[in-house]
Amino acid sequence: MSDLSRTVAQEQLVSLHLSPTPVINLGHLSLDSVTRSGMVDQIAKACHDLGYFQVINHGISQPVMDCAVEAASDFFKLPSETKEEFASEDLRQPVRYDTSSKDSISMSRAFLKHYAHPLSDWVQYWPEKPPIYREYIGKYAVEVRRVALQLMQAILEGLGLGKEYLNGKFQEGSQLLSVNCYPKASQDAMAIGLAPHSDYGFLTILLTSCRGLEVLDRSSNSWKTAQRLPHALHVHVGDHMEVLSNGQIKTVVHRAILNPEESRISIASIHGFEVHEKVACAKELVDEQNPQKYKESSFSDFLDYLTANMDNKHRNFLESLRMLTGAMIFEKADRAKVYCHMFKS
Ligand code: OGA
Ligand code: NI
Repeated sequence: MSDLSRTVAQEQLVSLHLSPTPVINLGHLSLDSVTRSGMVDQIAKACHDLGYFQVINHGISQPVMDCAVEAASDFFKLPSETKEEFASEDLRQPVRYDTSSKDSISMSRAFLKHYAHPLSDWVQYWPEKPPIYREYIGKYAVEVRRVALQLMQAILEGLGLGKEYLNGKFQEGSQLLSVNCYPKASQDAMAIGLAPHSDYGFLTILLTSCRGLEVLDRSSNSWKTAQRLPHALHVHVGDHMEVLSNGQIKTVVHRAILNPEESRISIASIHGFEVHEKVACAKELVDEQNPQKYKESSFSDFLDYLTANMDNKHRNFLESLRMLTGAMIFEKADRAKVYCHMFKS
């Protein structure tokens, strides 16, 4: 890259508040042990410092990615009545369609959520229209899960737990696809499609048709637009990763902004344990200096929490899992004393 083009690229970065996201070459994870351990360190640093990164050379072909976006896009072009067949208030339905009007974080988004692993258990519930949906989304789902498992192993290695840690539970784990469609922004270029939130699982891998994802940068407490590199997938960690790592890796708050040039498709693949399997802080990461910070919970507990807090815009699953440490108990007791004092006087 010439000096001039570097300067231009940097200027673009600043004006768009693009996040300089680490890019991980996934192919290097299967090279010799020295190269692998260098990659594991890079992934560990990205998880620890930012909670997100992007992957290239992940082995999913461009046509498979393009076809998944095409199938998703074609689904949302169907008449409302066809899509509404999948509408349900019950969060436990295997397939669920919804629009902004009914869910508290979707400001301007339609979505179809469904399970994807094991594919043979779930594909029968997926939409039959458009006819390409099951085949194209199914192909992508299987491949993106392989990427997620590879990344999970590297992250576990980076945490010092070893790549085989709880391997069976990850192999049997769940995969939820959130297939999203956002309209093109009208006048207001900053219109929000999906309000700030974190994802419940260990890892989310996001495939998007154009720019629109923003992540909350912890160091500056400001929103950064996720960059879009050719053929890259965006990865971020979720609430259950924070729990498993006992707070060493923090979940990422993110949101989606409407794109002023075009409507936008995104496919979020969220990876967790099997629905009823509890996720707890790894006991290897708990000691006197690092007491257990979170209660255990499962995906099913998360769904119960969402159902009970349907209208609560400030709901926060991870906060509900946080355990009180000694310092927090004192802080709470102090606050209680202040309240007592206020009532007495
Ligand atoms: C999600 C999500 C972001 C996007 O589906 O959980 O955060 O860019 N999507 O659509
Ligand atoms: Ni999300």
